[in-house]
This record gives sequence, structure tokens and C-alpha cells, in this order.
Amino acid sequence: MPSAVPRTGYDLVVVANRLPVDVSTGDDGEVTWSRSPGGLVTAMAPVMSGAQGAWVGWGGSPDLDLDPFEVDGTLLVPVPLCADDVESFYEGFSNDTLWPLYHDVISAPAFHRAWWEAYQRVNLRFAEAAAAQVAHGGTVWVHDYQLQLVPRLVRELRPDVRIGYFHHIPFPPLEIFTQLPWRRQVVEGLLGADLVGFQRAGDAANFVRVVRRLTDLTTRGQVVTITRHGKVERHVRAAPFPISIDSGAFDELARTDAVQQRAHDIRRELGDPRTLLLGVDRLDYTKGIRHRIKAYGELLAEGRLSAQETTLVQVASPSRENVDAYVQLRDEVEQLVGRINGDHGQVGHAPVQYLHQSFPMEEMAALYLAADVMLVTALRDGMNLVAKEYVAARSDDRGALVLSEFTGAADELHGAVLVNPHDIDGMKDAITYAVHMDDREARKRMRRLRRRVLGHDVAAWSREFLAALQAVPHRSDHG
Ligand code: G6P
Repeated sequence: MPSAVPRTGYDLVVVANRLPVDVSTGDDGEVTWSRSPGGLVTAMAPVMSGAQGAWVGWGGSPDLDLDPFEVDGTLLVPVPLCADDVESFYEGFSNDTLWPLYHDVISAPAFHRAWWEAYQRVNLRFAEAAAAQVAHGGTVWVHDYQLQLVPRLVRELRPDVRIGYFHHIPFPPLEIFTQLPWRRQVVEGLLGADLVGFQRAGDAANFVRVVRRLTDLTTRGQVVTITRHGKVERHVRAAPFPISIDSGAFDELARTDAVQQRAHDIRRELGDPRTLLLGVDRLDYTKGIRHRIKAYGELLAEGRLSAQETTLVQVASPSRENVDAYVQLRDEVEQLVGRINGDHGQVGHAPVQYLHQSFPMEEMAALYLAADVMLVTALRDGMNLVAKEYVAARSDDRGALVLSEFTGAADELHGAVLVNPHDIDGMKDAITYAVHMDDREARKRMRRLRRRVLGHDVAAWSREFLAALQAVPHRSDHG
């Protein structure tokens, strides 16, 4: 048994850049926490509650060095990042190199060798923390682009465990991926896993193509064969597992009296607009917020939507505020919103209600219920869980979803009005169509959407992933 095996360990160890909670310490040293942002945590939090597992991740602020602590039956194991790690590993390599590269280079990725050094160093820290928690023969489930070297590093430290990796964001085409100076090391990092999961079949196919081009390993369909000295050592499977949300819980939340009442109040507080449009995103250049607001502004200017009777609520939650591209995006969005409200507003009515804030789930559910049309117009998105939340909230079978074809969700959510967000005229037509959609069609579409979202929730997703991981032949299966 390898020496790093803990005496008693966890059968399931999740490793993600962030813990499910953001931790902060007050001046008196008291630890407080709140839910972390983003789709990964939205999806994984319900998976872990109930499972007796450990979650290895960063607490969200620099220089936090805390002992592991338990929340809802899960051991949270904080990995410390110093200020330089935050700058070079998190803001730098993760969010200014990989994030734009993997999202179709919407923003230009920056390649810096010092950031790559930090990425390797921090990935090793996460791998060591996971290796120290997992029981003999247990499972380590690594998440997302910040930690692509971790599967291989964990395998080196703990050859006895099964390793799964899930990639929450798109995996780009070969021609884009190969821009990365350290492309081979990244692929080898991922191939340390037994199972590499992606959101869409297209992502898995891109990955397999990259493996074929950058390594001399043989691939057959979804399976890559790892050989050593001419002998088959093990197999890696690359396959799609589209992620979901805790749709049942969200549906229930949206049915509560408090949320229903709040939805009415929101419309009233907005002056009872005839049409309420809604956008909900992290303030990220991948989300197509500018394209959406531009299309809306033109519809108002042309009188196709009435500025007096229409409101767009845009929730843009603060994100990665030290990365230049995000600072610039915020300026652009705020200028655009200001211009539209300046041109088309009246005393007491602004056609865009822009909220640069994060809200609790209850408020989000009420907003979804209040909205006639939900706008999800990402230029590229791994899945987009906001689209699924909107559907889960609509037990009244009303409301329409305008959805970008460049989201993973578009592969599943038949019933949405699909758009190409780069095509502003096409998007204007789609928004107008959704606004004027007759009740019968809207209900039919929403029922179809709900069948999918409620029929495939995040528990099903994690069951399927973990079952597929157990099914990959493993060395210990042969004694
Ligand atoms: C996306 C990513 C996650 C990330 C989240 C929030 O959902 O897939 O890995 O955690 O965005 O971004 P942040 O940089 O705040 O962690």
C-alpha cells in the first residue's frame, strides 16, 4: 500500500478550485462563509450533501490557511493560495489563458511562462491534498480547467485510486487548443484520469482528436489506450455527461408562497410592465451580455418593443474583477445600459434594470417566475445552468426561453427559441417572436423543456458519471 494512504480516508474526494463556500475570517479571527459563485458549485453542492465525502478546494481569498472543517456532513479541506498564486494561477493562467482559449478565443488568451509555473505548482498542492484524504481504493473526482494536471499527479501519488475528471467548460477544437505552449503537458495531465467527462459529445470528440494529434497513443471511439514498454497499461474513456441542477428542489422552491408572492411584488415594483425580459449571468465576456443589450436597445429604438411597457432586468454578478478583460467588459456594459436608459427612459421608468450584484436562490427563483422571456445569449458556454434553472422554476408552464446555440444546454433544451448571438438581427427577431408567442405554443414548449430538465437532474448526472468511472477497467480489478 503506498505510504501516502491515510489511516482512515474518504471513499469519495472531490477536488475543485473552489470550495462550495467562500470562507472569510473577521478581525476577531472568526470564520464565516457564504455560497461560492458559478455553475460548478451550483451543480456539485447537492451531489455532496448526503454523500460522506471530502471536498478539496480554495476558500476564495488569498492567504487563508485553515484546518479542514465540516459543513453538512462533507469535510471541506481548504487549499491555501498566496497573493502571487491568486494572481498567477487563478487570475492569470486559469482565467486569462485557459478560460479565453477554451471559449473560442472570444478574448485573446495571454501566454506567460511564470503563470504556467504557478499552474503546475498549485495543481501539485491540490493533488497532494486529495491524495492525503482518499481511502485505499477510493475515488478522486477532479473538476474543471483550473486543475487539469491533477489527475496525473494524483495517479503518481496514489496508483490505488480511481480518478475521474469532469470538464465544466467547452473543450476547444484542435486548431485552437494547440496554440497553448504547454498543450502536451495538459493532455498528459488529463490522461491521468480513468474517465474524462465533458458537457457535449463535441467536446469529447475535440479532446480525442487532440490526443490523437499530440500523442502516439491509440484511440478507438471514446477509448484511449495507455501503453508502457509496448504493453497495455490501462484505458482512459472520454465521454459526454451533460450536467444539470437539483431541478426538483428548484421547482419546489419556486412553488413556495414566499417566492410566488415575491414574483408578483417584483413586477409591481417595476411598474407592472407588459413585458419583462430577464438576463442572469456572471459578468463574463463569454455570456453575450453586450450583444443581448444591443439587440434590446435596437428593438426599443425601432419601436418594435415599447420602451414604456417593457423592462429588461439584467443581473450581472461580479466576477474575476482583477482580470483586465472583465474590467473592460464592465465598463462597456455599463456604458451601453446608461445610453439605452438615457435615450429611452422616462422619469420613474428605466427600460434596463442593471444589477451588478449576486442574489440568493429565493430571489433568483422569484425573478425567473416574474419574467416573460429569459435571455441566455452566451457566445460560448459549457452548459449554462441558468437556462435550466429558469425552466425548473416555471411550474406554471409559462414563459419563453431564448437560448444561444453555442451553449451545451442547446443540445438538450429542445423547446427553446435558438439564436446565434452574433447575428443581432436574428436575435432581435427571436426576442420579438418570444415576446409575442401565443400561450398555447409557449405552454407546449415549456412542457417539453420541463420534461427534460426535471427528468435529468444533477443526481442522475453524478450517478451516471460515477457508474461509468467504476466501469472503466482498473488495475486493482486484476488483483
Ligand atoms: C464557471 C467555471 C467554474 C468557476 C465558476 C465561477 O462556472 O466552470 O469552475 O468556479 O465559473 O468562477 P470563479 O472564477 O469565480 O471561480
